[in-house]
Amino acid sequence: MLNIGIVGCGYWGPNLIRNFNALKECRVKTICDIDKDRLARMKSLYPGSETVTDFDVIVNDPEIHAVAIATPVHMHFELAKKSLEAGKHILIEKPMASSVEECVQLKKLAEKNKLTLMVGHTFLYSQTVRKIKEIIKAGDLGRILYISARRLNLGLFQKDINVAWDLAPHDISIILNIMESEPVSVNCQGKANVHEGIEDITNMTINFQDKGFATIKSSWLDPNKIREMTFVGSKRMLVYNDIEPNEKVKIYDKRVETPPHYDTFGEFQHSYHYGDMYSPYIKQDEPLKIECQHFLDCIKTGDTPISGAEESLRVVQILEASSTSLKNGGNKTEIKKIP
Ligand SMILES: NC(=O)c1ccc[n+]([C@@H]2O[C@H](COP(=O)([O-])OP(=O)(O)OC[C@H]3O[C@@H](n4cnc5c(N)ncnc54)[C@H](O)[C@@H]3O)[C@@H](O)[C@H]2O)c1
Repeated sequence: MLNIGIVGCGYWGPNLIRNFNALKECRVKTICDIDKDRLARMKSLYPGSETVTDFDVIVNDPEIHAVAIATPVHMHFELAKKSLEAGKHILIEKPMASSVEECVQLKKLAEKNKLTLMVGHTFLYSQTVRKIKEIIKAGDLGRILYISARRLNLGLFQKDINVAWDLAPHDISIILNIMESEPVSVNCQGKANVHEGIEDITNMTINFQDKGFATIKSSWLDPNKIREMTFVGSKRMLVYNDIEPNEKVKIYDKRVETPPHYDTFGEFQHSYHYGDMYSPYIKQDEPLKIECQHFLDCIKTGDTPISGAEESLRVVQILEASSTSLKNGGNKTEIKKIP
């Protein structure tokens, strides 16, 4: 039986507590939050778990094998470092930490202490995203020309990070998982409308080594909740609408073809192909449940998690480059190689 300590029970932490609590191989031994009201609420739901305001109680408990961190992002590094130094496996909520430098330190520490480091890139555990990857890998869409993602809603405003750091990690992790090419540069523009210095609307573009291109629009200031990704391929196009309860993925047999030979612009004719649309059946399971089980499995087997330190560091590299680009009016920012 694996004992888990969970820190942070605001909006997201309770979902981790609920899922770990439902898994047979583990026990949520201790729940930590500096907010006593949140702790009292957790105690009423999970009377079998100890509740504490001091994170050191978890760190110093030799019976706790693993820690899940669901605090605001600026606390991730400190809490993760303490946990790894105390010999505990960690699941950190996305994004892994506030900078590439912090991520590199955590990655090295986990490797040195032979501990599992996983980041909560929940969408990589979604059956829908797995199906999309399968469809793209099978070549059904042809060559991916570009990906566009929109993740918009009203709130939840964060105090320590802008909307790109809050919402775009989902899209970036999906795109990196699906595109088999290295990101080389990022452009990002945005605007802080509500809180000075914290952009609540951002438009990011990522350029890949193989000429792949992705755009990500993130907003906390939109009247509609939109969770949509479009994958435009040379043969077909796929739209993933995560708000749809059933038909989340629709594949359109549409494309534009240019003639192989033409001598004058007058002879140049596009040929538009309009075919059927179909929506594959995808069995839905809660991605967070699969993610929590994967964390336990990786601890047991020593396998590297799907959203391990390497993949999660790449997400933060893109976020950090987006912040540099934002400061420079949207200029292209190269993604540096990690030494
Ligand atoms: N995977 C997902 O889909 C998903 C969704 C939402 C949020 N998140 C991530 O979860 C994390 C938390 O986000 P949230 O929206 O729940 O934030 P939140 O502000 O609602 O909750 C954070 C909680 O952490 C507590 N806290 C802060 N510092 C602490 C400390 N030093 N010790 C103990 N407790 C402390 C706060 O009191 C609060 O209750 C973030 O990293 C966020 O990006 C992930």
